[in-house]
Amino acid sequence: MKKFAISISGGGSTFTPGIILMLLDNLEKFPIREIKMYDNDEKRQSKIGEACAILLKERAPEIKFSYSTNPAEAFSDIDFVMAHIRVGKYPMRELDEKIPLKYGVVGQETCGPGGIAYGMRSIGGVIELIDYMEKYSPNAWMLNYSNPAAIVAEATRRLKPNSKVLNICDMPIGTEVRMAEILGLDSRKDLDVIYYGLNHFGWWKSIKDKAGNDLMPILKDHISKYGYVANKGDNQHTDASWSDTFAKAKDVFAVDPTTLPNTYLKYYLFPDYVVKHSNKEYTRANEVMDGREKFVFGECQKITENKTSKDTALHIDEHASYIVDLARAIAFNTKEKMLLIVENNGAIVNFDPTGMVEIPCLVGNNGPEPLVIGAIPQFQKGLMEQQVSVEKLTVEAWIEGSYQKLWQAITMSKTVPSASVAKAILDDLIVANKNYWPILK
Ligand code: NAD
Ligand code: G6P
Ligand code: MN
Repeated sequence: MKKFAISISGGGSTFTPGIILMLLDNLEKFPIREIKMYDNDEKRQSKIGEACAILLKERAPEIKFSYSTNPAEAFSDIDFVMAHIRVGKYPMRELDEKIPLKYGVVGQETCGPGGIAYGMRSIGGVIELIDYMEKYSPNAWMLNYSNPAAIVAEATRRLKPNSKVLNICDMPIGTEVRMAEILGLDSRKDLDVIYYGLNHFGWWKSIKDKAGNDLMPILKDHISKYGYVANKGDNQHTDASWSDTFAKAKDVFAVDPTTLPNTYLKYYLFPDYVVKHSNKEYTRANEVMDGREKFVFGECQKITENKTSKDTALHIDEHASYIVDLARAIAFNTKEKMLLIVENNGAIVNFDPTGMVEIPCLVGNNGPEPLVIGAIPQFQKGLMEQQVSVEKLTVEAWIEGSYQKLWQAITMSKTVPSASVAKAILDDLIVANKNYWPILK
């Protein structure tokens, strides 16, 4: 069987070790000859890279490994780029969350003004990775899950329409793990789902088992009482704040009990609740810096000091195996059905054909073939039209350097009460992002 070479961009990410362990666990399904890591932060990259070098040497010595801040090294002779960069890193995420909260507005990584600010930073970073890939490995595919995926996907549609980039999110997968658990099934892969929407802004309209039995009634009964709270879930979304989000899905579901909601809809449908339950001084970025980041970098340091990964507490991120499924689908033409963020192009018949939507696609060696969803109800259509306009205006603002369009984007977000609040937030964000955003006129 052919063996593949992959480059992990954002090699210094907190998710990198869990993904490496997941790749090692899946070598039979997806054989690897080489792993290269790339990050533009030498310190972060070498801390994660040194530990992963030891880990790989102990567990899969046949895989060639290197890490680098030099694109020519990291992007040459590869088949896949797995991209998870965070432009501005956690300190900028912290500002994305805290600046809107100062004005009583939702402060969130990918939703509302924080997500828009993050989008304005990410576009350039992700486009740069695509350029490196196309320069050094023109036949490679990029599997991108750098956030905010909705805005990044729209930017790739506008700026890199012919590039081999697939944009994907793990939230539906994490939720389907819970659904399977609620239903007493072994795996999320026992579910046959129809889901539609924008990234972090969508709904399941049908969930059946492989025999075609409708599982929605059992799920609705559970979710109407407990949201997506289940016993275990995946091992990424485990902090208390995530548990609250899964529980809040109960109220989100009540707004439209004909579908099952993405957890992120709470930020748009219950922004007052979210703000009331936020701590303006200590947001999710602080939780992650004190939690996941300390843990992952601490474990990596131990591996490097002990010169062995034998007793490491780092664990496989099993739910990230969707990345292997996606790479396999491209490499081996499996035609697996997966949710991807793709141009609508008529799949949702009563929605903007140029909107980037998250829908089921059959994935093969030519990329995704989106499935037809049909017409969607007025409630979802109305919400999606507003939100897709936020995303499109943000990308236009980045391309044109337009203050006006970014103000309109923030004003249009359902999380923001007025144009004057939008302007105050925008003016603060401009100052905070002066090293990352294009100059706005
Ligand atoms: P992190 O800050 O730990 O890691 C990101 C890394 O990217 C850092 O080491 C940073 O130095 C690097 N980086 C930043 N800008 C770069 C650039 N221009 N070129 C190369 N490297 C760059 O962040 P994390 O919490 O581990 O998350 C990583 C990314 O994955 C984020 O975008 C996050 O939102 C995303 N994510 C997405 C999903 C999804 O469902 N789509 C799921 C989990 C995480
Ligand atoms: C989910 C989303 C990702 C997001 C992550 C945030 O997995 O799908 O897009 O980045 O949650 O998790 P964190 O633990 O960093 O708040
Ligand atoms: Mn996501």
